[in-house]
Amino acid sequence: MVRENLVPHTQVVLSLENGELAKLTPLGVEVYNFAGVPLNKYPRTLSWNPVLIEKQGFKHFMLKEIHEQPRLIRASLDTYLNYDWYPTNSSEMPIKLGLPAGLLEDLEQIQIVACGSSWHAGLVGKYLLEQIAGIPTMVQYASEFRYAPPPLTANTLTIGVTQSGETADTLAALAMEQQRLTNQQSRFQLRLLGITNRTESSLAALTENIIDIHAGIEIGVAATKTYTAQLLAFYCLALDMSYRRQVLPLMRLETILNGLRQLPALMESVLEVQEDSIQKLADQFTDTQDVIFIGRGINFPVALEGALKLKEISYIHGEGYPSGELKHGPIALLDAKVPVVTIAQPGSVYEKVLSNAQEAKARDAHLIGITPRNNSETAEAFDQLIPIPEVEELLSPMLTVIPLQLLAYYAAAYRGLDIDQPRNLAKSVTVE
Ligand code: AGP
Repeated sequence: MVRENLVPHTQVVLSLENGELAKLTPLGVEVYNFAGVPLNKYPRTLSWNPVLIEKQGFKHFMLKEIHEQPRLIRASLDTYLNYDWYPTNSSEMPIKLGLPAGLLEDLEQIQIVACGSSWHAGLVGKYLLEQIAGIPTMVQYASEFRYAPPPLTANTLTIGVTQSGETADTLAALAMEQQRLTNQQSRFQLRLLGITNRTESSLAALTENIIDIHAGIEIGVAATKTYTAQLLAFYCLALDMSYRRQVLPLMRLETILNGLRQLPALMESVLEVQEDSIQKLADQFTDTQDVIFIGRGINFPVALEGALKLKEISYIHGEGYPSGELKHGPIALLDAKVPVVTIAQPGSVYEKVLSNAQEAKARDAHLIGITPRNNSETAEAFDQLIPIPEVEELLSPMLTVIPLQLLAYYAAAYRGLDIDQPRNLAKSVTVE
């Protein structure tokens, strides 16, 4: 039973580690290891309050969790940004992640392992770590990494991203890396970092270096608030590293920090302004069987996330693609029955994305544009617009994902599906 189901019944838990078993007697619980030796174990109290697992007027937990995002991001910003820092105040650090200084020193490379939405967050993280902190970063599915790990290299940080802290493949990938690095023949130092919503999870048994995303209990099987909270963790990590390594000019760093502080209000406005029109749009998906999501650069992983959300709760096939790759194959799928949801964020790839959208439109596809621009150019490229506030490209994934979460939610709601418990899926995948 997962913890969120336990909380209404009790907040006191006694967790078993691997290799332990419990015997329930009329007098209580006795815990042994597999050799039959009795163990002294002490229960602990979960910090989660049962009120947190009520729907609070929302029809589904997923919708409630989508709406919680602005508040949670605001709280995380308050936790991790140092409001006393400014470019000429070198006695302060701009970000307070509380990680040991040695962990991030002299890094030459980062590898991120994760699954599902956490992997998508890792892809955005790669973009940020490379563009803001200048560190080469690779992102691997944990389930693939385990069977084809890259050669060990010096000064490499391995980051495991898992909201639950219990995903078997992610834990096994990290454990394998730990073993490879502590092996006597390895010349390299072990550096592990976890990004999680569960600081007391199995992930914490692997590493003490944790960034807590502070998203509160997420009940809906589809990750929403934990995804944006993971993104925020990557923004903070990338900015922290950029500062330590003196990569970006301090004024630029300050601009990004100021932009981050604006995000919660802008997320609120997307929810307030767009929810009704996205619901109407989703209602048009009655006979839709396939939806293509395209984006480019930092918004390519957002396209992947939009497609995953749609698939897992509405059972409509969604496919995320970098828009420049459409013409290398997937364009063959397009016709009037296939909506193409396009993230067209002004910045380095904006014109390219618009021209990729035109290519899709020329194949009769129905083009839906998520963009801050409402002008003749976007009117020509798109059949329907979902306007979002304009922010700099680097920060845009925090906003562009919200319409996609709502689109998936309302497409599933229209079909009357069990949104919080979709078929065949579990909240934490604790088997390989
Ligand atoms: C997301 O909507 C999914 N339910 C799933 O892909 C999830 O992100 C994945 O299983 C990883 O979970 P984790 O973050 O708890 O490791």
